[in-house]
Amino acid sequence: MIAEDREPTPTRPEEPPKEDAPRRPGRRVVLGLAAAAAGAAGLAGAVIVPPWLTSPPTSPAPAAAPRGRFTGKVVLITGATSGIGEAAAKAFAAEGAKVSFCGRRVEYGERVAREIRATGGTVRYVRADVREPDQLQRFVDDTVTTFGGLDIAFNNAGITRTGPLHELSLDTWNDVQNTNARGVFLAIKYEAPHMLRAGHGVIICTASESRRPGGAAYTASKQAIKGIVDAAAMDYGPKGIRVNAIAPGTTDTALARPQGIPDTVWEGFKRAWGPLNVSALQRMATPEEIARAVVSLATDEFGYMAGSTVLVGGGPLGGGAMRMPPGVPTPG
Ligand SMILES: NC(=O)c1ccc[n+]([C@@H]2O[C@H](COP(=O)([O-])OP(=O)(O)OC[C@H]3O[C@@H](n4cnc5c(N)ncnc54)[C@H](OP(=O)(O)O)[C@@H]3O)[C@@H](O)[C@H]2O)c1
Repeated sequence: MIAEDREPTPTRPEEPPKEDAPRRPGRRVVLGLAAAAAGAAGLAGAVIVPPWLTSPPTSPAPAAAPRGRFTGKVVLITGATSGIGEAAAKAFAAEGAKVSFCGRRVEYGERVAREIRATGGTVRYVRADVREPDQLQRFVDDTVTTFGGLDIAFNNAGITRTGPLHELSLDTWNDVQNTNARGVFLAIKYEAPHMLRAGHGVIICTASESRRPGGAAYTASKQAIKGIVDAAAMDYGPKGIRVNAIAPGTTDTALARPQGIPDTVWEGFKRAWGPLNVSALQRMATPEEIARAVVSLATDEFGYMAGSTVLVGGGPLGGGAMRMPPGVPTPG
């Protein structure tokens, strides 16, 4: 359960994603689970979860039955080949929307589209990389041509890379900014003209309130999205287009789960991590819960909301200080 680690962050430089991973309060002691989060796949079976954490303290409320709230509406989503975007694509489709989504992994995109069609949904998947302006513009324009308009855009594609700032390469920095911040800028740039012509629209972007050591590139990109959303809300609000952002708390997706971690280790990590770090609901979000919030924000129930970044984080301190379970020495 305990791992010794003198490095200044719980992650190795430029490792894959640990969105909102717990802050470490001291230099020496971290949960063995955090070592798992650093990619120690070999820890399978080594996770000791205190008895009081054998089941999640809270569980997601069951989803309400779809109510056809988006019947006939056109919804575009960037980054829906997995995780939150995938869940949102399915949720919008279940509500009757025609869903057009992109992502780079063709196999994943085709699987998501197949699963939506199998439930009677209307969907198209296009391989497009949000870092490539031409691909993104073609994806947006073709969506409008194919489905006859654009009512809602969920600009969700994102990546994270962590490491002490001085160890981040320029390429890594650029990749994170180009995917997350510039990707959102370009998406709105290409979506807005269609919505302006129609005189209405809803744009929701995926930001984050993640603030932690090693997060310079990711945090900067996500704070930039909040800035873009502020300005875009004022640019387009007068024309009937609402622009907002959602800031999910740590969510059980590939972005949060280090590659190669066995299921048992990941389940143990989640059980120990939630109560210690998610101040109110004491567990990670499911992608479906975040998707439900996105769908709700897109309804007219939120018709007066513009320029907001909504934290859906299970509590007010998502990504805050790391607390240790009973029996684990206090760091010092
Ligand atoms: N999970 C969390 O704890 C958490 C918390 C706060 C915010 N977020 C944000 O939520 C969003 C979704 O992440 P997730 O957690 O659902 O992780 P995920 O499963 O890794 O999803 C990321 C999505 O973005 C797509 N994407 C990445 N780079 C892209 C590119 N260059 N062009 C097109 N699509 C791209 C990925 O598709 P391809 O790889 O197929 O391109 C994938 O569909 C991200 O913006 C992330 O920063 C996540």
